[in-house]
Formats: sequence, structure tokens, C-alpha cells
Amino acid sequence: MMSSNQYVLLVFFVSLIYHNTLASPWLQRDALLEFKNEFPINASDPDDPINSWNRSTDYCSWEGVTCDRNSGKVISLVLDSFYLDGSLKTNSSLFSLQHLRNLSLDHCGLRGEIPSSLGNLSHLRVLDLSNNHFDGEISSSLGYLNQLTSLSIGSNNLTGRLPTSLGNLSRLTQLDLTDNHLDGEIPPSFGNLNQVLSVSLSMNNLNGTFPISFLNLTKLNALYLFQNQFTSGDDLPLFLPNLTSLYYLDLSYNHFKSTVPDLSGLHNLLKIDLSGNSFVGNFPASLLKIPSLEAVYLEGNQFEGSLEFHNASSSSVDTLLLSHNNFSRVSESISGLAMLSSLALGYNSFVGPIPVSISGIPNLSQLDLSHNGFTGPIPGSMSKLVYLFILDLSYNKLEGQVPSFVWGVYGLTLSHNYFSSLEKPRKVVDDKDSIDKVSFDLGSNSLRGPFPQWLCKVRLLEFLDMSNNHLNGSIPPCFLNPPFLKEVSLRKNNLSGFLPDMYSSQELKSLDVSGNQLVGKLPRSLIGCNYLEFLNLKGNNLRDTFPSWLRSLERLRVLLLGSNAFYGPIYTPSSSSTDFGFSTLRVIDISHNNFSGTLPRDYFANWLEMSSVWKGEKDWSDLPMYEGNQMDRGMYENSMVMIYKGVETEFSEILLAFKAIDFSGNNFSGEIPESIGLLKGLRLLNLSGNSFTSSIPSTLANITYLEALDLSRNNLSGHIPLDLDNLTFLSYMDFSHNLLEGPVPRGTQFQRQNCSSFADNVKLYGLEEICGPIHVPDAAPPQQPKDSSSEPEDVLNWIAAAIAYGPGVICGLVIGHIFNSHKHERLMRRFRRNNPSGTTRVH
Ligand SMILES: *[C@@H]1O[C@H](CO)[C@@H](O)[C@H](O)[C@H]1NC(C)=O
Ligand SMILES: *[C@@H]1O[C@H](CO)[C@@H](O)[C@H](O)[C@H]1NC(C)=O
Ligand SMILES: *[C@@H]1O[C@H](CO)[C@@H](O)[C@H](O)[C@H]1NC(C)=O
Ligand SMILES: *[C@@H]1O[C@H](CO)[C@@H](O)[C@H](O)[C@H]1NC(C)=O
Ligand SMILES: *[C@@H]1O[C@H](CO)[C@@H](O)[C@H](O)[C@H]1NC(C)=O
Ligand SMILES: *[C@@H]1O[C@H](CO)[C@@H](O)[C@H](O)[C@H]1NC(C)=O
Ligand SMILES: *[C@@H]1O[C@H](CO)[C@@H](O)[C@H](O)[C@H]1NC(C)=O
Ligand SMILES: *[C@@H]1O[C@H](CO)[C@@H](O)[C@H](O)[C@H]1NC(C)=O
Ligand SMILES: *[C@@H]1O[C@H](CO)[C@@H](O)[C@H](O)[C@H]1NC(C)=O
Ligand SMILES: *[C@@H]1O[C@H](CO)[C@@H](O)[C@H](O)[C@H]1NC(C)=O
Ligand SMILES: *[C@@H]1O[C@H](CO)[C@@H](O)[C@H](O)[C@H]1NC(C)=O
Ligand SMILES: *[C@@H]1O[C@H](CO)[C@@H](O)[C@H](O)[C@H]1NC(C)=O
Repeated sequence: MMSSNQYVLLVFFVSLIYHNTLASPWLQRDALLEFKNEFPINASDPDDPINSWNRSTDYCSWEGVTCDRNSGKVISLVLDSFYLDGSLKTNSSLFSLQHLRNLSLDHCGLRGEIPSSLGNLSHLRVLDLSNNHFDGEISSSLGYLNQLTSLSIGSNNLTGRLPTSLGNLSRLTQLDLTDNHLDGEIPPSFGNLNQVLSVSLSMNNLNGTFPISFLNLTKLNALYLFQNQFTSGDDLPLFLPNLTSLYYLDLSYNHFKSTVPDLSGLHNLLKIDLSGNSFVGNFPASLLKIPSLEAVYLEGNQFEGSLEFHNASSSSVDTLLLSHNNFSRVSESISGLAMLSSLALGYNSFVGPIPVSISGIPNLSQLDLSHNGFTGPIPGSMSKLVYLFILDLSYNKLEGQVPSFVWGVYGLTLSHNYFSSLEKPRKVVDDKDSIDKVSFDLGSNSLRGPFPQWLCKVRLLEFLDMSNNHLNGSIPPCFLNPPFLKEVSLRKNNLSGFLPDMYSSQELKSLDVSGNQLVGKLPRSLIGCNYLEFLNLKGNNLRDTFPSWLRSLERLRVLLLGSNAFYGPIYTPSSSSTDFGFSTLRVIDISHNNFSGTLPRDYFANWLEMSSVWKGEKDWSDLPMYEGNQMDRGMYENSMVMIYKGVETEFSEILLAFKAIDFSGNNFSGEIPESIGLLKGLRLLNLSGNSFTSSIPSTLANITYLEALDLSRNNLSGHIPLDLDNLTFLSYMDFSHNLLEGPVPRGTQFQRQNCSSFADNVKLYGLEEICGPIHVPDAAPPQQPKDSSSEPEDVLNWIAAAIAYGPGVICGLVIGHIFNSHKHERLMRRFRRNNPSGTTRVH
């Protein structure tokens, strides 16, 4: 065995020979090893790349390390995705590697402050600390790195102001501080960064007016300021036109409020995003004179007036006329619109018809005109837009027939208009090799007549919404069979007949046919829809026994059978308790049917999903928008209407926390199963209008987050369990029309109820506070109920997120807005996903 001294000596001589230099490499290697030792590295993990850093090999060959070939000095450390999991100390031996030119510690799990000693690495040209957890302020010592050409500290937790000293980095070509919590104004010194090509300060809290000093940045070709608090001042319109080198300009989601000046001088511009501000005035037609332009995003502003695309230039109008025969071959050199492929004008106040001249944008592939005041029909000239891939015209006042050419569009959203009929397609999208599936949203229009049979032939159909129309006749048996079909809503039409079989709908996730006049039984072929999560059959005339066989669908989360003619028991005495648990269900509504029979004590023993409390309590920003792969999910938000605190309320399935049972309006008898207390995740429980007897199970007090409890109109007797006082979230309850007796619990939840919630019980007492002093228990004449205007809905709990989904929603509130913007963002993500230049960056 070699002693450790001998070993060190040997290594010493090896490296001595290797580099033919003396002290310097020795120190370089030790500095690297010391640096390694500053972090909790698992030395026995062979997959950790930093474990290649050991004395048995030349440090210049270690992963991420590059040396100068002559001097053996470390000039580059690129440790991206090495999991260091610690902080960079001010005295870190990293800072003795004085010759470093590149230092990249992207995704290294680093936290704490950025040490000021970084400013000593005076040879640095590239510094990348992105995607860590650095907090505190940006050290002003970085201003000493006067060789720096690229500085990236995006996606950290930095706070405070931008240091003025950064203006000293006169060689900087790229600056990326995206996605931190920086605030304050951009320092005027930034006007000295006159070599800079790309500046990205997006997703911070920066404010102030758009800095005049940016006018100095004559080479700037990419400026990303989205999601900050910038305001216009008087200058924005004056100097935006002078940033003539720009390729990419993203000012979206700030507080800019002005007209858009003539930008035709930005003759290199590829993409401009002004969305989510308060820009006013007419459509900035000057943009149409920029021949290079590929994408224009102006959605979510206050633009108004009607649209016209002839303005581009006189020669492009010629092109328009000439191009009648061979449209896709429009000469690029002439038309100012030749490259434009994405145009987003949604959420503005544009009015008038969709201009015929829209066909003068020959390469348009994504068009969003949603949420405006457009009127009239879809112009026939749009059929010339042969590359149109995504078209969103929703929430306008468009009318007439939906022309056949739109069936060639992959993502079609025409909802919330007045369209009255659909022209049959000459040819439907049927590209066998297409990875893109087809989605048609035609909801909330005035469509009449029978269900369009030709939809059966749209093989790539993935999503279809025809809800809130006046379709009649039956759903053709061939429908529900396109192989990729995932989400279907035919809610609120006049459809009749049977629900067709769905033998090949393997991927079906969501089916909503509520509010029609369907009859007959549930097709047993539903059992093959292994991916089914959401089934809404409410408000039809379906007549069947309880579909306990749906239990085998392992993803079923929402089952809504209410207001039909279902009958019989929902469990048979022979079954064992594991046979009647819906272990994945979050919401079940079987109200207003003719179900009957008793339920055993352990009936709810295996409803595992409802037994779990969702942990992201109350923090909306934590709400996962949907589970699984985001891209895998359609645009559509399943929603359902349920009675919540006595009010019809629309819920979005987005609410993973919302768990509910509604068994009301049936003929159940016997005891309320004690096992109900196991469903700790429940928010709503409605057992009213049955014939339940015996006493209220005290286990109800275990459902900690219960918000609404309706046990009215049964034959319940005995006391109201006093422990129900513990349910601090319970803000709505109804015990009326039972045989209850004894004291009403004294807790504030109870004392806040309306008198009517206790009406018509035999011997309840202690109602003086609730019903007024002269209350006579048996007669239960409700005095003037407590001021109901200040009651239940303004204390609407966070969870009661009635979404502002359409007109007539009762409690839109702030939360509705959150949903809308989520929905909108999701739409836009989808929109931009297909936009090749959407996320490109200049480096
Ligand atoms: C270190 O890595 C080895 C190999 O991957 C692993 O078996 C061991 O559990 C790890 N030790 C620690 C403390 O994480
Ligand atoms: C040293 O690193 C090399 C890879 O660079 C590895 O093959 C060797 O096993 C390591 N030796 C020790 C003692 O960890
Ligand atoms: C760095 O400073 C810390 C205290 O802040 C000290 O514990 C540590 O030994 C120092 N490390 C070096 C390499 O000097
Ligand atoms: C250092 O950074 C520059 C610019 O990013 C890059 O071109 C060069 O390849 C890097 N060198 C090393 C050794 O990583
Ligand atoms: C960095 O430089 C400063 C002087 O500018 C010096 O006081 C400090 O010790 C240096 N730190 C390191 C780690 O070299
Ligand atoms: C940022 O800091 C906050 C509070 O200091 C912390 O909760 C959060 O996890 C941090 N985020 C990151 C990405 O480190
Ligand atoms: C930046 O430059 C100014 C002079 O232009 C100088 O006074 C200041 O010390 C410099 N700051 C840094 C951090 O280099
Ligand atoms: C800009 O932000 C800073 C820091 O948050 C704040 O102190 C200042 O009042 C803000 N200025 C404006 C005009 O909002
Ligand atoms: C513009 O840059 C020059 C140097 O190139 C500098 O002297 C001047 O102060 C800068 N102007 C602004 C407004 O930053
Ligand atoms: C913009 O450029 C024009 C022409 O180069 C110049 O006359 C004008 O003063 C500039 N505007 C600003 C605000 O610098
Ligand atoms: C429910 O609460 C009762 C007390 O009311 C307690 O005895 C019982 O263990 C609880 N059951 C569960 C399942 O938590
Ligand atoms: C309700 O609260 C009372 C008093 O805090 C406590 O004794 C009782 O166990 C609680 N009941 C339940 C079911 O948590």
C-alpha cells in the first residue's frame, strides 16, 4: 500500500510532467477540488458528473473544465445542470480561478446571494447563472466585469433595483435578467450598452416609463420587456419608431397606454407583441408596410374601429387582384404582408365586418379576432388563406352560414356568435400523417337543424363543442367513433333519441350531453372508454339502473346523472364494500332521479379520492391548471352546474379541490351511512329530499373542509351533532323539514344561517338568535331573514369559483377573472406553440 504522502507525491510528479509548469496548475487543481468540497456532493454517485473531478486524472480533462492549452490555467467552467445544491460563498475558491473567461452555472441548484467577489473575475466574457435560486440584490460589483459580453441571471429570485454599474459593461451584447423580482426603473446608464443586441428584462416588477436611454442602443435587435409594470409616459410614441434595428419587440403585459406610432421604419421587424396593455386607436396600419413581419400580437388592448388591410401599399393591392388564380404564389417582394403568419387582435373593441381584404395576407396561418365586436358573415375571400391553421373568431357578433372552407382549419373556435348553419364541407381534413388533431368549437351560437352527420368523417377530430345551440334530431350512431376523439360537448341542445355506442372512442376523456332530451339506457360500450374522466348526462330522460359498472373506469372523476329517470338501488346487498366504491370520483351528482333503497354503513369506505384533502389550500397560484402533460390537454374546460349554497353555480373542473356529492331528490331511505365521515375532502354534501331516517351521523364533523351541507326534507330525528360546530368552513346548511330536536349548536356558523334552514322540525330549540326572540319552534315562521344581501355570496369562499363562463353566471367575481385569463393564456400558448418565431431569441 502506498502511504497517502507517497500518493500525493506521485500525483504531484505526474501533473508536473504533464504540464511542465510548477505551482500554477497545482493551485488551479486544488482550487477546483476545494470548490467541489464547498458543496454536499455524494462522492459515491457515479452519475454525478462532478465525481469525475478526482486526483487520479488531469484536471483539464474533468467534466466542464477547459484549460488554456499553454498555461494550464482554467479558462472555462461550464457546469450546467451539475447539481451543486448550495450557496456560492464570498470566499469560494472559485474566485481564485482568476483566468476564467466563461463561467456557466445554469441549473445548479444554487441559492443565497450572488457574491460580490464575482466582480474579481475580471477576465469573464460569459457569465451564466440562470435557473438557480439566487436571491437578494444583483451585486453592483458585476459592473467591474468590463470584458463581459453575455450576462444571464434569468429565472432566479433576485430582488431590488438594477444596479447602475451594469451600464459600465460596454462590451455586453446580451443581457438576460428574465423572471426575477427586480423592481424600480431601468437606470439611465443602460444607455451606454451600445454594443448590446438583445435585452431581456421580462417577468419582473420593473416600472417607470420606457427609458429614453434605449435610443442609444442602435444595435439592439431583440427587446423583451413583457410582464413588468412599465408605463408609457409621453415619449413612447416618439421614440419607438427610432429603434430601427429591432427584429423582436415584446412589450406585452405592461401598463403602456398610448397610440401606436408609425412603426414602418422598423424595417427588420419579425415579431411585435404589444398584447395585454392599454394601447388605443385604430389598428396600426403602418405595421403592414414592414415586409419582414411574421407575427403581430395586439390582443388585450383598447384598439377600436374597423379593420382594413388594403393599406399595406398600393402595389400589394395589385398583388391581391392578380393573385386570384394562384394565391399561394404572391410575390414577396411586393406585398408588405407576404411573411405575416400570425395575427392576434383578440380582446379589443374592433367593430364592423371582417374585411374582405384579409385575404391579402397570403401566408396567414393563425388568426385571432376573438372578443371584439365584429359583425356580419365570414367573408368568402378567407377561403384563399390556404395556410390557415388556427382561427379564433369567438365572442363576436358574426352571423350567417359557417362557410365550408373553415373545416380545413385545425383549430377552429367560432363560439359565442350568431351563426345559424354550417355549410357542408367539400373536403374534410384527413391527413393520415398529421400529428395535429382537429378541434371545432361552435358552442353558443344559433345553429339549428339536425346534428351534422358529416362530422363522423372528420377522422382527426379530437375536440368538439356544439353546446348551447338548437340542434335537434338524434346523435348519429357513427358519431363518437372518430378514433382520436377526446372531448365532446353537446350540452343544451334539443337532441333526442339514444346516446350512440362508442366502440372506437378509446381516447374519450370528456362527454357532456346534458340538457337535451336523450332517452333510453346508457350504452354499455362506455365501459371501453378507459380514459373517460368527465361524464355529464344531466337533464335528459335517460331511464336505466345505476351504472355501477362505470366503476371500472379508472380515471373517472366526475359523474353527473342528475335530473333523469334513473331508478332502483345504487347498491345491491350482495356486494362487498370494495364493490361499491368509486375510488377515483371527485364529484357525483345523481340528484332528481328515482333511485331508492338503503345504503350500508360502510358505503363510502372505498371512495378514496374524496377521502383525500387536496393540499394546495387557498393558494390560487398553486392550482395546477390541469394534470399531466399540458400539451396533451385540450383547450376546453369541462364545467358543470351544481346547486351550491342554494344557488345554481357553474364550476370548472379545474378545481381539483372541489369534491361533491349530490344525492338529493331521490327515494333513499334508512340511515345516512356513517362512513360519510371518511370523505374528508368533501366540500358539498346534499342529501335533501329523500327519506333518510334516524339521526345525523356525528362523523360529519370529521369532514373538516365541508362548506355546504343540505339534509333538508328527510325524516331525520334526534339531535344536530354539536361537533358540527367544529366545521369552520361550513357556511351554508339546511336542516329544515325533518324531525330534529334538541339544541341548535351555538357556533357562529350556525348562528349565521337563515331561520328557514331550521324550519319545520319537531323540537329544535335555541333558535332565538337566528329567528328572532318570538320564535315558536313548531310553527317556525321565518321572521324577516337576516340581511341576505350581505350574506352568502359575498362571503363566497375561495373554492366557490363560479366561473365567468358566459352570460348569466351568478357569481363571476374576481375568481372568474382568474379563470378567464388562465383560459386565455392557455389559448394563446396553443396559438403560439405553432408559431415558429414565437419564442426565438437572438443570442
Ligand atoms: C449516494 O449515491 C449512491 C449511488 O447512487 C446511493 O446509493 C446513495 O444512497 C447516495 N447517498 C446519499 C446520502 O444520497
Ligand atoms: C476519477 O474519475 C474518472 C473519470 O474521470 C473515473 O473513471 C474514476 O473512477 C474516478 N476515480 C475515483 C477514485 O473516483
Ligand atoms: C469562508 O468563510 C467561512 C465563514 O464565512 C469559513 O467558515 C470558511 O472556512 C471560509 N472558507 C475559506 C476557503 O476560506
Ligand atoms: C465560452 O463562451 C463563448 C460564448 O458563449 C463560446 O463561444 C465558447 O465556446 C465558450 N467556451 C467554452 C470553452 O465553453
Ligand atoms: C476581490 O477584490 C477585492 C478588491 O477589489 C478584494 O478585497 C477581495 O479580497 C477580492 N476577493 C477575492 C475572493 O479575491
Ligand atoms: C423565492 O423566494 C421565496 C421566498 O423567499 C421562496 O418561497 C421561493 O421558493 C423562492 N423561489 C425560488 C425559485 O427559489
Ligand atoms: C462605472 O463607471 C463609472 C465611471 O463611468 C465609475 O465611476 C464606476 O466606479 C464604475 N462602476 C463600476 C462598478 O465599475
Ligand atoms: C416603482 O417601483 C418602486 C419599487 O417598487 C417604487 O418605490 C416606486 O414608487 C415605483 N414607481 C412608480 C412610478 O410606480
Ligand atoms: C449614449 O451613448 C453615449 C456614448 O456612446 C453616451 O455618451 C451618452 O451618454 C449615451 N446617452 C444616453 C441617453 O444614455
Ligand atoms: C428619432 O429619429 C429621428 C430621425 O433620425 C430624429 O429626428 C428624432 O429626433 C429621433 N427621436 C428621438 C426621440 O430621439
Ligand atoms: C370521526 O370522528 C369521531 C368523533 O366524532 C371519531 O371517534 C372517529 O374516530 C373519527 N373517524 C374518522 C374516520 O376520522
Ligand atoms: C370538536 O371540538 C371539540 C372541542 O374543541 C373537541 O372536543 C372535539 O373532539 C372535536 N370534534 C371533532 C370531530 O373533531
